[in-house]
Amino acid sequence: EKLSMFVDELPSMPTVRGYTISANGIYVPASLTIGMHMKLWKFHRDLHPSAVFAFGESAAKATVPGPSIEAISGVKTYVRWENHLPDKHIFTVDETLEMAKPARGVPTVVHLHGSVSEPHSDGNARSWFTRQFEEKGKKWNKTVYEYHNVGTTSNLWYHDHALGYTRLNLLAGLIGSYKIVNPELDDRLGLPRGKFDRELVVMDRSFTKSGFIYINSTGDNPDLHPEWQPEYFGNVIIVNGKAWPYMKVQRRKYRFRIINASNARFFRFAMDDGSSFTQVGTDCFYLEAAIELKSVLLAPSEISDIVVDFSKAKKSTVILTNDAAYPFPDGNLPDGADRKIMEFMIKDGNVTDNSRIPIQLQPLIRLSEEHVAIRRNIVLFEFNSPSGQPTHLNINFASFKDPVTELPKYGTTELWHIINLTPDNHPFHVHLVGFQVLHQRKLKNVNELSACTVNQKGVEACNISDYVDGDPILPPANEAGWKNVLKTQPAFVTSILVHFGMIDFEPFPFDPTGEPGYVYHCHVSIIPCAHKTLSAQ
Ligand code: C2O
Repeated sequence: EKLSMFVDELPSMPTVRGYTISANGIYVPASLTIGMHMKLWKFHRDLHPSAVFAFGESAAKATVPGPSIEAISGVKTYVRWENHLPDKHIFTVDETLEMAKPARGVPTVVHLHGSVSEPHSDGNARSWFTRQFEEKGKKWNKTVYEYHNVGTTSNLWYHDHALGYTRLNLLAGLIGSYKIVNPELDDRLGLPRGKFDRELVVMDRSFTKSGFIYINSTGDNPDLHPEWQPEYFGNVIIVNGKAWPYMKVQRRKYRFRIINASNARFFRFAMDDGSSFTQVGTDCFYLEAAIELKSVLLAPSEISDIVVDFSKAKKSTVILTNDAAYPFPDGNLPDGADRKIMEFMIKDGNVTDNSRIPIQLQPLIRLSEEHVAIRRNIVLFEFNSPSGQPTHLNINFASFKDPVTELPKYGTTELWHIINLTPDNHPFHVHLVGFQVLHQRKLKNVNELSACTVNQKGVEACNISDYVDGDPILPPANEAGWKNVLKTQPAFVTSILVHFGMIDFEPFPFDPTGEPGYVYHCHVSIIPCAHKTLSAQ
C-alpha cells in the first residue's frame, strides 16, 4: 500500500542550548544530559508507530532525530550521554562481525561528527557503554563528554558510533543535529535566522505492514554473516522524523542545513520548478563565496548549508526532489516515491525579508602541496564472494584490530591519495581535522591494479602512476573548501591535503595526542566499513 505524500507537517526538533547566558549577558558553558530511550515513533499519519531508539532530555521528550543542539563558538558544552536502552536491540544483531560484545544491553557511544574534540570525548568505537554504564568497552574513560565548540563555525551532527552496532543504532534513530553559532560572524553575514533557519535531517527507511522499521535480516553472504547486509536502502524518505512532510513557507529566503543521515543512500537534491538555490556552507565551514546551484549531491553524512529564496518560486508548491542512484553511482535509479523528498507550500503575499546572501562569506586559507610532510596511499578495497557479494571491506588490507599505521605529527599537513578499488563511491570521513581536495584522477586497468594491490597487501610496489589515466579533475566549487567527509569515486584516486591542526590554524585547546586516538573511515553503513585508528602526535 502506498503512503500518501505531504500529509504530515515538517517537525521542528526540540532545540537544546549548549550554553547559558550569565546575568551580565555573557555566554557561559552548560552541562546537558541527553539520554537514549526506546519509544514508539510515528513516521507517517497512516503508519502505526514503530519502536525506535531516540535521543532526548527525557524519554517523553525524545525524538527522531534527537534534539537540535545549538552551541556558541568558543563556549564549551558538556554532555552526559546516557543509555536507557533495553536488554535487546530492536533489530537482529549479526554477532559474526567485529563488534562490542556486552553480556546484555545495547552498546552505544556518541560521536559528534565534525567536532574538534579531545580523544576521550570523540566517541571512539571501543568507548561504548550499555544501560547505566553497566558494561563498557576497553577504551571507555568518562561519563561526561567535553565539547570545545572550536575550529569550525557551523554544521555538525551527532550519532552513535559503537563498534559493530553503528549501522543498526543509526537505523533505530540515534542521530541528531548540532550547530555551532558564531554570533558576531552571523550578525555580519545577515543570513536568514530564527524560524527561517531550519535543519533538514534526511534519511531513507522501509516499513513493515504494521509500521515497524524494516530491515532485511538475511545476510548477502549468509555462510559468513547470517544477517549482515553491507548497505541499507529504504523506499520511504523521512525528513525530521516524518515521511515526505510538507512545510508552509513565506515568500522570502530560508536557510536549510541539509544533513544526509542515511546509512548508504546518496541524494541529489533539486527543486521541481527548476529554480536554483545558493549554497553557503558545507559540513565544515562557510564557503569562501556563495555558490548558485540547481542541485546538490550529498553522500551519507555530508551536509549542505543552503539558502532558498521562495520569493522567486514559479509555483505555489515546490517539491524537493532526488535523482541519485543507489548504490551510487551505478545502482538503481530512484523510480517512484524515492524521487520526492518533501513539499514546500508557499503562502501568498509579500513579506519583508531583511536577510541577505552575502557574496563573500569567510576567507579560506588554501593548503598547498609544497608544505606536505608525508604522502600516504590509502586503498579502499572490497573482497567479494564468488557470487559477487561483498564479504568484507577494508583500508590498506588492515582491520580495525590491527596496530595504528597513521601517526601524523601535530600541526603538519599530509597528502593522502585515496585509491578507491571498490565499485561504489565511498564518503571518506576523518575525525578531528578538516581537509581540502587537491584533485581526482581516473584509474585504468583497475583489475590489474587490484590484483597487484592484493598481492602486495598495498599499492606501494604497484607503481600507481602507471594506472593513472587522464588529467587531474578539480573538485566542484561547493566542495573546494574545508571538508570533513568527501565523496571518493570508484576507480579514481582522490588526493586530499589533510591538516593535522585546526582549520583556523589556532592551537588545539586540549591535547589531541594519545589514547584512544582518532579514526577515519567510510561513512556507508559506517561499521563495518573500513575503519582505522589515527593519533596526532
Ligand atoms: Cu559520522 Cu566516525 O563518523
